[in-house]
Amino acid sequence: MMRAFHFKSGVLHCEEVNVHEFSQKAPTPYYLYSQAQISDNIQAVLKAGEGLNFLPCYALKANYNPAILKLVQKAGFGADVVSGGELLFALKAGFAPEKIVFAGVGKTETEIELAVNTGIHSLNIESVEEFHLVKQITARLNIPLRIAFRINPDIEAHTHDYITTGKHLNKFGIPLSEALELYEEASKETLLKPMGVHIHIGSQILQDAPFLEAARYLRRVVEHIRAKGLEIQTLDLGGGIGIDYEDDFRKSAVKEPVKTVLPKYLHALKDLKVKLVVELGRSIVGNAGILVSRVLYRKQTPLKHFVIVDAAMNNLIRPSLYRAYHSIVPLVLTERKKQTVDVVGPVCESGDFLAKDRELPEMNRGEFIAVGGAGAYGQALASNYNLRPLVREYLVSGNNVKTIFKGQTIEDIANQFEW
Ligand code: LLP
Repeated sequence: MMRAFHFKSGVLHCEEVNVHEFSQKAPTPYYLYSQAQISDNIQAVLKAGEGLNFLPCYALKANYNPAILKLVQKAGFGADVVSGGELLFALKAGFAPEKIVFAGVGKTETEIELAVNTGIHSLNIESVEEFHLVKQITARLNIPLRIAFRINPDIEAHTHDYITTGKHLNKFGIPLSEALELYEEASKETLLKPMGVHIHIGSQILQDAPFLEAARYLRRVVEHIRAKGLEIQTLDLGGGIGIDYEDDFRKSAVKEPVKTVLPKYLHALKDLKVKLVVELGRSIVGNAGILVSRVLYRKQTPLKHFVIVDAAMNNLIRPSLYRAYHSIVPLVLTERKKQTVDVVGPVCESGDFLAKDRELPEMNRGEFIAVGGAGAYGQALASNYNLRPLVREYLVSGNNVKTIFKGQTIEDIANQFEW
């Protein structure tokens, strides 16, 4: 596939759309997604699972825009949800209940009831107390429920501390020995159907090694369960396949772990004769979105050059929260001399930045930049901090641009309050 985001005659294009031209009429900041890139990512996942007993699920948390959900659903994916809200969005977008997995450390009683009534693929249990509540609820409703146990495998994912999930210090999952006891207990229940186990070691992982370690771990778990004479039908391998945040739409060698790492993870487990479930968020939408912003001012202090833009941490919190690196490119390439700058937003916090000490060609007021890798955990983590309305989202397909979220006005926000 031709790169969905690419420079043509020095101007950033998304598929056939000239993003610079589009930005002349579209108020900034805004998110722009490429349907072709999402489809390419989807195809990579389907290819990785070819010939396997495989259920790829899309993790709604990365980006729950219904237009994106529908694309993934139509490709045959299931959904990975972490709240009642996500479960309702998944159903509304047309995902079959039997293709929905629900994990989360703090499911409420109402959310568990919704899952039971919906008849989802599996509810992934994350604590002993949750297990007992699930038992009570299924008994009260007298409805069977497929469950899995999320195990905390104590595996190091070599990613940011905040997005590491599979260590014993993290709140997620149940230690193996306890999970195996619960698995056995659940097997004796009539309404609970233990299907398998679930792990998720972390997010934005670019290397094979942590996943291959997870695969070896899961293999031992399956052996344990079978040695006890119990059945296991599914292994939920979690998500966490990373993307190349350094992609500036010009470099030729872009890392695409969804094409290189994911097949290895799946194939390491294919002989176990279980259904392999994955829950992918970032690797489906991350590289399919940009955040476009306009330069408001430049400012020079004795120590720094600042480029002040109209997008801020409330639009894209990843740099502030994780010191995450996102590529930043001007929409129009120039030969101007480069400067080392901090790209910052209008929010009243020093932590409000999109990039620190970044080398960019000199930019002028009114010119545009695009922040790359903004399709996942971008708009999904946006807030109204500083009373900044959520911004518009567009989906490009070929030369067509469709509004898929119309953004908020300040009146929309005001109307949610009692005055
Ligand atoms: N499954 C479970 C149980 C998860 O907790 C997550 C992500 C996923 C699947 C999907 O992971 P992915 O394939 O997208 O890596 N806000 C952070 C990422 C938090 C991820 C939370 N869990 C960020 O912006 O990097």
